[in-house]
Amino acid sequence: MKRSASAFMFIIAAMPGLAWAQQGTATLNASQMEGQRLFVQHCGLCHNKIQVNVPAPNGPVITKAVLDNGNEAQVKTQIANGSPNMPGYKLMFEPAQIDALVDYIRTLNPASASTAPAPR
Ligand code: HEC
Repeated sequence: MKRSASAFMFIIAAMPGLAWAQQGTATLNASQMEGQRLFVQHCGLCHNKIQVNVPAPNGPVITKAVLDNGNEAQVKTQIANGSPNMPGYKLMFEPAQIDALVDYIRTLNPASASTAPAPR
């Protein structure tokens, strides 16, 4: 019991890269929180350096800027169909889940979606 508690504390302490993802969580609505959950689970491998021990992510940093200029439909197509270096998710996600991801992406300000955790 004691041992698993300290292992848990270690994991929390080793995750400074998650800080950006948690910023403003209290202000996210249900759909945005669902999108955040999906993003951390499925997209952070390649985007936004969510996982501390993974070297440079190979995908671009995703912020709400990708939705500028009415690109929402294009972003949904990107998530559904993927691209040469990104898998498509249309067989994995319901359309509502892709909508949730877009709702979450809309909350990602360029300043808060920093790619790199603090240098060690
Ligand atoms: C295997 C790595 C990988 C995963 C996993 C991944 N992506 Fe990507 N993504 C990329 C790469 C690389 C690109 C750049 C286009 C290319 O090279 O194919 C990209 C491009 C994008 C773009 C377009 C960015 C722009 O500037 O217009 C969006 C939006 C996006 N990804 C969202 C997501 C979402 C949401 C998920 C999770 C559901 C996800 N990606 C999962 C690698 C990944």
